[in-house]
Amino acid sequence: MTDSQVDVRGILGFDPFAPEFHADPYAHYRRLRADGALQRTPGGLWLSPSFDVCAQILRDPRFGHGDNSMSGSGRIPRRVRSFLVLDPPEHTKLRRLVSRAFTARLIERLRPRVAAVVDELLNGLHGEVDLIAALAHPLPVIIISEMLGVPPEDHDRFTGWSDALARGLDPDFLVPAEELAWRDRAREEFGEYFRDLAARRRSTPGDDLLSGLVAIEELSEDDLIATCVLLLVAGHETTVNLIANGALALMRSPDQLAWFRDHPESAATMVEELVRYDPPVQLSARVALQEAEVAGQRIRAGDFVMLLLGAANRDPAFFTDPDRLDLTRWSDEAPRHLAFGQGIHFCLGAPLARIEGQIALTALVRRGIELVPGPLRYKDNLILRGLARLPVRLS
Ligand code: HEM
Repeated sequence: MTDSQVDVRGILGFDPFAPEFHADPYAHYRRLRADGALQRTPGGLWLSPSFDVCAQILRDPRFGHGDNSMSGSGRIPRRVRSFLVLDPPEHTKLRRLVSRAFTARLIERLRPRVAAVVDELLNGLHGEVDLIAALAHPLPVIIISEMLGVPPEDHDRFTGWSDALARGLDPDFLVPAEELAWRDRAREEFGEYFRDLAARRRSTPGDDLLSGLVAIEELSEDDLIATCVLLLVAGHETTVNLIANGALALMRSPDQLAWFRDHPESAATMVEELVRYDPPVQLSARVALQEAEVAGQRIRAGDFVMLLLGAANRDPAFFTDPDRLDLTRWSDEAPRHLAFGQGIHFCLGAPLARIEGQIALTALVRRGIELVPGPLRYKDNLILRGLARLPVRLS
């Protein structure tokens, strides 16, 4: 469904909700590349499909989020903005504090639990199922809610908020009013719920991430809540899409699927190639905090830049044979894609997403998975690329 209230095509120069774009955004990105590494859209935004330009701007301190209402945070009062949309020095301080609780050790410890949840979800399933409802959607929400210490009886409410917040990453000006209202309501309810839960964890700490976060004295209550919302918004739908887009890409490349079945030890490099090939996060946005010259173009302070990570990951100037899914691509070198961003905002949850993707996709391939022929529908979301349903046959 294309939104009738927002002239997305007029702003971007293309309709990211059109069925043909959903089916293959990469064909559109290939055409865009002919218009330059950094180009103006009809709506006056900047847009880049180039790996070099995207990577450069993500690392460039002259670009950030500022106070610009177009950075997807215009309706969120500054005091409750998450660090995803803050600039240094506030970003540096908050990210450092949260990283203390979100440690690699904590994440690595989750491996057996992720494997157990995948088994529980897949056990007894065979024949035709919707992979999203059966596995891709519940797995990350169960894991993140357990990490945060949300009691099992509240998991359904938690899932509802997650769905409402899913467009929380899109710039406000591209989201219809009723969806914004739904999203804002969910954000408020979620905030209230977490204020309560945080108070309980403060008096009776547990062995969970929320207890770890409330123990950090320098973290204000507003920052704590904004961080919990961020972990859910940034960590749920993205991982759903990693599992579903990844499974779809494998099923559409039987030679690669067969190769992985023979090389299950390559789960880590497989996930890197899958997120390069069809990234769950298709774009990242920045505002020029001061005037800057990039790729021969003069960008004025306050200009808005859309970095097409999905296009950058298929840039032929950077990748050999970029449109080919090649699970051996990263066997001899460290992955250098932009699926998890780059620079100071590099995805904090990447280790968790990687573990969930590796375990879920390995389990699916081991069981045997086949695409059920038929049309596929993608969700209307500018930043995230994900299917509404993925019918598969499990053996
Ligand atoms: C496949 C799954 C995921 C993908 C593709 C992904 C992708 C990204 C990207 C591209 C960014 C950078 C955004 C920007 O620079 O504008 C980011 C940031 C972030 N991600 Fe993820 N993410 C995933 C999963 C997760 C998970 C599971 C969590 C946590 C539970 C998480 C937490 C975060 C946080 C907190 C940030 C903000 C970091 C900062 O601003 O310093 N992500 N993610």
